[in-house]
Amino acid sequence: MSVDARPQGYPKWVVTAMWVSAVLIAVGSYRFLIADVALVMPAMLHHALERPLMFYLHIGLAPIALALLPLQFSKGLRKARPAVHRWLGRLYGVSILLAGISGIWLAYTTEEGPVAALGLALLALAWLWTTGLAVWHAMRRRFAQHRAWMIRSAALTLAAVTLRIYLPIGSATVGFEASYPVICWIAWVPNLMLAEWILRRGRGAPVGATA
Ligand code: HEM
Repeated sequence: MSVDARPQGYPKWVVTAMWVSAVLIAVGSYRFLIADVALVMPAMLHHALERPLMFYLHIGLAPIALALLPLQFSKGLRKARPAVHRWLGRLYGVSILLAGISGIWLAYTTEEGPVAALGLALLALAWLWTTGLAVWHAMRRRFAQHRAWMIRSAALTLAAVTLRIYLPIGSATVGFEASYPVICWIAWVPNLMLAEWILRRGRGAPVGATA
């Protein structure tokens, strides 16, 4: 089945910029491999010291899901190498399963207050839910629904990009303390709304209701 995440008429440079940012942020997340967390992620030191398993599971696996997006949404790769798409899809799903569960744990233990914690925890739950449904539909060969739920999942994975765009803007305007709790919501709710709009616009009907 021919499915393409890029809606008709959507500027190609926007999609390219999105995929390049995803890969750059994913690669940058591995900075903890070359220098101490205290140095390269100082705000995360409490996670690294108090819950290292959850922390390293999250920052080790979530970037894999992010970096896989451009490959998984490549129509060319899906057509030429469907087996590669399936194997990378399994890797995407397992990465999100573990990064999502650890993400809930990190959200629960964040030092940035209850509003941030709730925003991040709901993001993690939505991430697990949308990705789980996407995998479930793929296993039953319901590809229209698989596509729709993967677009929703990708919109949430891309919260890692939008959050890192909003963070410096928030810090430079109202300051980190005031902006972070808001960013923990606006990094993903509009992404999900945009995904829904793209899906409805592409089909002229709500997506997810058809087999
Ligand atoms: C979409 C669901 C995600 C959730 C719910 C989530 C949740 C979290 C939480 C709660 C923290 C700790 C923040 C704090 O204590 O204030 C964190 C940190 C982190 N997350 Fe995620 N995350 C998600 C996706 C991703 C993705 C896709 C990446 C890929 C790059 C990623 C990479 C990281 C990194 C590298 C950190 C350490 C913070 C830093 O960048 O300095 N996360 N995440």
